[in-house]
Amino acid sequence: MKKTLKITAVVLFVAFVAIQFYRPAKINPPIIAAETLEATTYVPDEVAKILSRSCNDCHTNNSNYPWYSQVAPMSWGIIDHINEGRRELNLSTWAIYDTKRKKHKLEEICEMVTSGEMPHYQYLWIHRDAQLSDDDKKILCDWTDAEKSMLPLT
Ligand code: HEC
Repeated sequence: MKKTLKITAVVLFVAFVAIQFYRPAKINPPIIAAETLEATTYVPDEVAKILSRSCNDCHTNNSNYPWYSQVAPMSWGIIDHINEGRRELNLSTWAIYDTKRKKHKLEEICEMVTSGEMPHYQYLWIHRDAQLSDDDKKILCDWTDAEKSMLPLT
C-alpha cells in the first residue's frame, strides 16, 4: 500500500514537471496610442479605475501575468481567458472598431456586469478586489449609455 502511494506520488510529480514544457505564448501585443479606448473616448477617472481593477487584465494588451500564470496547468486556463477576452473585447484596439461593434460592445459591457458574468468568476478567486459593487455597476452602465448616445446612428 505504502509503495503504491509512493509510486503514485512519483508519477504525479513527473507528470507535473512534464506539463511545464508545454508553454503557450504569453504576450502583450504592442499598444498603439491612437487605437486605445482613451484615444477617442472620454473615460472618467472612476470608470478608468473600475476597468483597471476588474477588466484590463483580460481586455487590453496590457495584461499582468502573475507568477501562477507561469505554472501549468493554471497557465493554460489563464492564457486562454486572456486571448479569448481580447478577441471578444480589446480596449487597446477600441478606436479601430466600427461604430456598430462599439455600440454592441458598450451594451455588452453593461449587460455582462449587471448579470454578474463579468469579471470572469475565476478571476475573482484570486483578485478579490475586482468584485464590482452595485455602485461600480451603475457607474459603468451610466458611462456606456452616455457613450452609446454619442455615437453616430448606424
Ligand atoms: C479573467 C479574464 C477576464 C476578466 C478579468 C474580464 N473578462 Fe470579460 N471576457 C473574458 C472572456 C474569456 C470572454 C469571452 C467568453 C465569455 O463571454 O465568457 C469575455 C467576454 C467579455 C465581453 C464580450 C461579450 C460579448 O458577447 O460581446 C464583454 C463585454 C466583457 N467580457 C466585459 C468585461 C468587463 C466589463 C470586465 C470587467 C468588469 C471583464 N469583462 C473582465 C474574460 C475576462
